[in-house]
Amino acid sequence: MIRTIEWTESGVVMLDQRILPGEETYLTFTDYRDVAEAIRALVIRGAPAIGVAAAMGAALGVKNSNAQTVDDLDAEFRTICDTITGTRPTAVNLFWAIERIRSLYERTKSLGLDAVRQALIAEAQTMHREDIEANKAMGRFGQALFPDEGCILTHCNAGALATAGYGTALGVIRAAVEAGKKIRVFADETRPFLQGARLTAWELAHDGIPVTVITDNMAGYFMKKGEIDGIIVGADRIAANGDVANKIGTYSVAILAREHGIPFWVAAPLSTIDRAMPSGDGIEIEQRNPEEVRKIGDTLIVPENVPVAHPAFDVTPSRYIHAIITDRGVALPPYTESIKKLFQND
Ligand code: MRU
Repeated sequence: MIRTIEWTESGVVMLDQRILPGEETYLTFTDYRDVAEAIRALVIRGAPAIGVAAAMGAALGVKNSNAQTVDDLDAEFRTICDTITGTRPTAVNLFWAIERIRSLYERTKSLGLDAVRQALIAEAQTMHREDIEANKAMGRFGQALFPDEGCILTHCNAGALATAGYGTALGVIRAAVEAGKKIRVFADETRPFLQGARLTAWELAHDGIPVTVITDNMAGYFMKKGEIDGIIVGADRIAANGDVANKIGTYSVAILAREHGIPFWVAAPLSTIDRAMPSGDGIEIEQRNPEEVRKIGDTLIVPENVPVAHPAFDVTPSRYIHAIITDRGVALPPYTESIKKLFQND
């Protein structure tokens, strides 16, 4: 079992994803500001994992506060929440998680400081556990869409490392393999942070699932040769109409899939669906530091005087998506209706 993030007595422990696969190093965070920085710097990444880290970071901030009463804590709690939500704008799980913590804080305030502390710590751990359960449910629903045998392409890392465990897109792949299907995986390397080459390859190899890494620009070549039977990706935010924001390059893969008649699936928990966002047009796309593109490691690969752009995500319109696999079942087009139905018992 891959341990991505954990709440411990000594702090929030995270596997440092910046240095995988070369080094497997766990970092312990004892200050919420360092948790926020870890999210921003991609020590931990992937929408659901960011959500869990945010909740644990907020709980850590409250645990370590010097406030003597809840009233003393109020302003500091707002700063804690703002610092954490200020890290990455696209993954909606970050805002979802802090909203859940904020609402619990309001509901437990009248019980006093100790009760608030205990409630927030317990909630962050519950969110960790629920995320793994959601991934297992997605796996059960999603694996039924896969062929008994075949090659599945994925982009970025939507695996155990991007969640509390098991994964969304890679969770569906894991579930298919556990169900006896003979699945092989093509992993796009996913420039510039190389989540596919470094992380997806690492965790699938760890589980003994056959994986081949290709550079992002090879996907069309293999689709044209008939070597890819399906595509599955995760999501950072899904709008109410089914448009999906995910790692930059996902949109190109979806267009290629349409051209070649290959099914394109998205796997994401309900916490990734932003029902207040009518379409993908309104989703804020994180613009990251161009230096992450300009260099590979410490090696300069673009002349220093040439500008570099670095949008970290793109939006795939829902018309390219065959199904959205969630922890409450599979939503099919038209998504405005099927997504609404997923939430009808809330
Ligand atoms: O920049 P990242 O690595 O946080 O981007 C991650 C992705 O785009 C994932 O596909 C998405 O968050 C889903 S993770 C289950």
